[in-house]
Amino acid sequence: MPGRRPRTAVRSWARISGTLPRSAHVTTPAADIVAHYSHGQLQQRLEAALRADGVDPGRLSVEALAPYDQFHGRGLEATVEAAGLMPARAPDHLLDIGSGLGGPARWFAQHFGCRITGVDLTPEFCALARRLTTQLGLDAQLRFEVADALALPFADASFDGAYSMNVSMNIADKPALYREIRRVLKPGGWLLLSEIARGDGPEPAYPMPWAATAATSFLATPAQTRTALEAAGFDLRLLRSTRAQALAFGARAREAVARGEQPPHRAVMLVHGELAAAAMKNSARALADASIEPIELLAVRREGA
Ligand SMILES: C[S@@+](CC[C@H](N)C(=O)[O-])C[C@H]1O[C@@H](n2cnc3c(N)ncnc32)[C@H](O)[C@@H]1O
Repeated sequence: MPGRRPRTAVRSWARISGTLPRSAHVTTPAADIVAHYSHGQLQQRLEAALRADGVDPGRLSVEALAPYDQFHGRGLEATVEAAGLMPARAPDHLLDIGSGLGGPARWFAQHFGCRITGVDLTPEFCALARRLTTQLGLDAQLRFEVADALALPFADASFDGAYSMNVSMNIADKPALYREIRRVLKPGGWLLLSEIARGDGPEPAYPMPWAATAATSFLATPAQTRTALEAAGFDLRLLRSTRAQALAFGARAREAVARGEQPPHRAVMLVHGELAAAAMKNSARALADASIEPIELLAVRREGA
């Protein structure tokens, strides 16, 4: 795979193209987060990876993309699990906060038959998410916009439900994030989070798949997450750890590699190239040490809050 573009090049490209939200031009964390996720040639890398899998990039399927476009711990396994927790129905309009390459949104849209709007800080991800969605014929159900989760470009009470998978680790002000999500939910709207929390173990090492350094990583404990959600006007319906599932998934992936097969989840390698090996090693170590704790939460908008 070709090397990453230098950070400065990514930033100047984003400034010139005018595709970054205003905050990303002026605040270091947002610019660094975008630089961490941006490559510049992601589409070409994805096509090369698909060809190596024996898949024609011109004849895509949701299944063929799943090892690459589900950019969160346990990949498609976690997406399917999240679907089982979502009270979504076909007429609903959902919000995907930090939609990445659009893999979760395409899977949920097909599964539920609903409409989904995805927002993401990284312009390159949004561009590829749109392209893949068009190729799969899902344009009528999905759209993707470059936007900051802390300043959602939507009117109050726009969405029936919202979800976010492995995004809040990049957002320091979680009370503001949850208040902003609550604002755009309709009365009775729900929020499903599949996130990585801070565990009881030692400080994790970086790089991680979501952050090159600790400067752009903001891990909250499960208890802090619950408190922030309740303070923002949500009632918690479910909060559970998926650490055991993550450890089992990691063991299965290592066994597959030992057999000479590809690991089932290849999104980190696709996006991060040379950084991926160190990020995946640190993430497996942090999981084993309980430095990080994957969690799933379901909350509903409290009325009168
Ligand atoms: C680990 S990826 C997860 C992508 C996607 N949710 C998935 O599971 O495939 C984290 C994503 O969060 C996005 N992100 C981080 N901070 C954000 C913010 N403040 N607003 C919107 N998106 C953000 C990044 O650009 C990146 O696409």
